[in-house]
Amino acid sequence: MRFCDWLRVALVLFASLVARCPAQSLRQAADHAGVLVGTAVRPGLLSEAAYSATLAREFNLVEPEDAMKWWTVRHEAGPFDFRAGDDIVRFAQAHGMKVRGHCLVWDHNNPDWLAQGHFTPAQLSQLLQEHITTVMKHYAGQVFAWDVVNEALDENGHLKDSPWYNQPGIGLAEKGPAYIEQAFRWAHEADPHALLFYNENQGEGLNIKSDAIYAMVKDFRHRGVPIDGVGLQMHISRLDLDTSSVAANIARLTALGVQVHITELDISLPVDASGVAGKDDLLHQAEIYRGIVRACLQNPGCTAIQTWGFTDKYSWIGSHSHGTRGAALPFDRAYKPKPAYDTMIEEISRKPLRVGPGL
Ligand code: XIL
Repeated sequence: MRFCDWLRVALVLFASLVARCPAQSLRQAADHAGVLVGTAVRPGLLSEAAYSATLAREFNLVEPEDAMKWWTVRHEAGPFDFRAGDDIVRFAQAHGMKVRGHCLVWDHNNPDWLAQGHFTPAQLSQLLQEHITTVMKHYAGQVFAWDVVNEALDENGHLKDSPWYNQPGIGLAEKGPAYIEQAFRWAHEADPHALLFYNENQGEGLNIKSDAIYAMVKDFRHRGVPIDGVGLQMHISRLDLDTSSVAANIARLTALGVQVHITELDISLPVDASGVAGKDDLLHQAEIYRGIVRACLQNPGCTAIQTWGFTDKYSWIGSHSHGTRGAALPFDRAYKPKPAYDTMIEEISRKPLRVGPGL
């Protein structure tokens, strides 16, 4: 054999060895597969060495858990306070991570001065447009995708009562999703480059609620309302989730030409008084994590998978369930990877290199 042939054989051998090397982290696997793997973060914890080291090593995407919500940015009626959100953006930039923004329009997590302000529809309309515009312009070029409207539907797929819709609303009460449409139009004007998402819970698989989300997004797409994606939250509390139904829902949404992001994945388990879950439940949980990652990655339009926090040490599930549930995330309270971490990395590593809209 000539030298060049030897070299060629050596290169092929080297490449196949590299391909077989297990990924060292979720992030490495995700970068290789061309997908975004993210997590919700709290800026106050970035000073904890184990928290920030795990975050930077394992994820290529972050989203503020609360730091860009109305109650943080507008805790006073006066000037906007971007300090907490800016801390997250700074961390992300220093570590080469993308940032998702969350959220601009929601009936929860609003400051008292807004919720109890007895504003007229005209005043609320002005307040909301100002909020969307100011926040999105502040983060333009830094936040690549926004949850513009969060959780606007009830479990039957009907519009929920909300200060933005009908209590008293921004002047579009009784016009169905017109207030949602208006928010997307203002968002697009504020930052034409940002991807705009509708984010929702309990509409992950095929059901009456996901039918309503689908119908709304289809109508928006047909009429040219600027919507780029649907966020499926995935706060799961049952171990019998049908992931094929999730895959079918992702398929019909992406067929409309929008992206899907899994935005708030956690799978909560019953826990004892010290927050410890059963071993079998943890293994079962890991298989559901696998199923969800697989359902997303098999569809090129599903471009991001994000967990709602990453360590069981800091998860909203504990307080939300009054301590009865927990252990919902891929790392335990000591930042040790759990079986759910292993199944996530396995599934992502199975994915051949993909150049998708996510990166
Ligand atoms: C939760 C946060 O995790 C908590 O810290 C906060 O107290 C309440 O909100 N759906 C959403 C998220 O879209 O914003 C919520 O986050 C969880 C449910």
